[in-house]
Amino acid sequence: MSGLLAGKRLLVSGVITDASIAFSVAKLAQENGAQVVLTGFGRLSLVERIAKRLPETAPVIELDVTNPEHLAGLADSVREHVDGLDGVVHSIGFAPQSCLGGGFLDASWEDVATALHVSTYSYKSLATAALPLMSPGGAVVGLTFDATQAWPVYDWMGVAKAGLESASRYLALHLGKQGIRSNLVAAGPLRTMAAKSIPGFEQFEDAWSERAPLGWNLTDQEPAARACLALLSDWFPATTGEIVHVDGGYHAIGA
Ligand SMILES: NC(=O)c1ccc[n+]([C@@H]2O[C@H](COP(=O)([O-])OP(=O)(O)OC[C@H]3O[C@@H](n4cnc5c(N)ncnc54)[C@H](O)[C@@H]3O)[C@@H](O)[C@H]2O)c1
Repeated sequence: MSGLLAGKRLLVSGVITDASIAFSVAKLAQENGAQVVLTGFGRLSLVERIAKRLPETAPVIELDVTNPEHLAGLADSVREHVDGLDGVVHSIGFAPQSCLGGGFLDASWEDVATALHVSTYSYKSLATAALPLMSPGGAVVGLTFDATQAWPVYDWMGVAKAGLESASRYLALHLGKQGIRSNLVAAGPLRTMAAKSIPGFEQFEDAWSERAPLGWNLTDQEPAARACLALLSDWFPATTGEIVHVDGGYHAIGA
């Protein structure tokens, strides 16, 4: 098998539709020689149906990233399909509606806690659940939305992403001795199920369409997926704790 990820075994979370960033990662990874195992949340039969649209149907393991039993059983479930892991992709995010769309001042701690549990803490949980299967040279990659500034309507999800970015740096710190890297891709706005649940998301769409120096395609997940593949590959062997922007250059431009 040839390709950027030839022979690599990957665990990819976050597929729910074929517009999911994770779907593009899984597809491109298979096309580049990787063996892919998916995790699915909640609507397993839907995820299994989507998994059949990949070049090679991928097995799906149930994982609610806030469920300690699912996390404890993850390594054994993965072992039923592959004998180890070279890469783990975290493509998971969720915040209750109260946390988004301008409700920053009113969202309850319970709702904010849910957002942080699913979107931030889970990065560490997924990585440590998969760790028994990983060895030096392995990589963990997650998806963020640039959290260096406050965005209209992103609210507590922005705080969750700021935490995710920090958690990735701490994971880099704590897994470095084992030769395992942790990096994030900061994608521009893409029309996925998660994005559609953000009231006012079209503000991002307009801003990117007008201002990204390279232009920006709201329905093309492949650029973000390509960056994930690069970070999972052997071509970033000395890079960890990094955030690669795949946003058409938007982050580099002032108002
Ligand atoms: N779409 C964008 O504009 C954009 C931009 C930058 C970053 N991101 C990030 O990309 C990642 C993937 O999102 P997407 O845009 O592909 O949307 P998506 O809706 O396709 O994927 C989100 C995934 O999170 C999963 N999920 C939610 N709660 C979960 C739980 N408790 N346990 C396990 N999985 C759970 C869902 O099942 C879904 O598969 C997210 O971290 C998102 O914040 C998205």
